[in-house]
Amino acid sequence: LASIRVDVSGIAPGTQLTQLWQGKPVFIRRRTSAEIEEARATDVSTLPDQVARNANTGEDVIATDENRSIGEDGEWLVMMGVCTHFGCVPLGDAGNFGGWFCPCHGSHYDISGRIRQGPAPENMHVPVAKFVDETTILIG
Ligand code: FES
Repeated sequence: LASIRVDVSGIAPGTQLTQLWQGKPVFIRRRTSAEIEEARATDVSTLPDQVARNANTGEDVIATDENRSIGEDGEWLVMMGVCTHFGCVPLGDAGNFGGWFCPCHGSHYDISGRIRQGPAPENMHVPVAKFVDETTILIG
């Protein structure tokens, strides 16, 4: 599978970009400290899907924010911008949990991309991704 390198130097805290990879959108969000704090304060036992869904970790890793984010102190969230219900592209900065909202059938995701309300069965998936230098993320 082809990898891509994404320059993230222009992404301000609290914003995101959408990068196409393998024909699908990947959301790359640079989170504020308040967003990280909120994501990390969530009790995993209350989540509809308690699996991290992170291709960089094992399959049975739990869905803490620490297990889904990268970069110093979890500043960066990289995930497939694909709703796990029927594959629509969720909208950012939307929904009841401060993250993403899928308008197709009403799924609400939090600021860690975890499903919180609505029909989607799983958290949005985290692809293989890592920093290769200070401002470049390699996806794939
Ligand atoms: Fe997102 Fe159905 S495809 S809620």
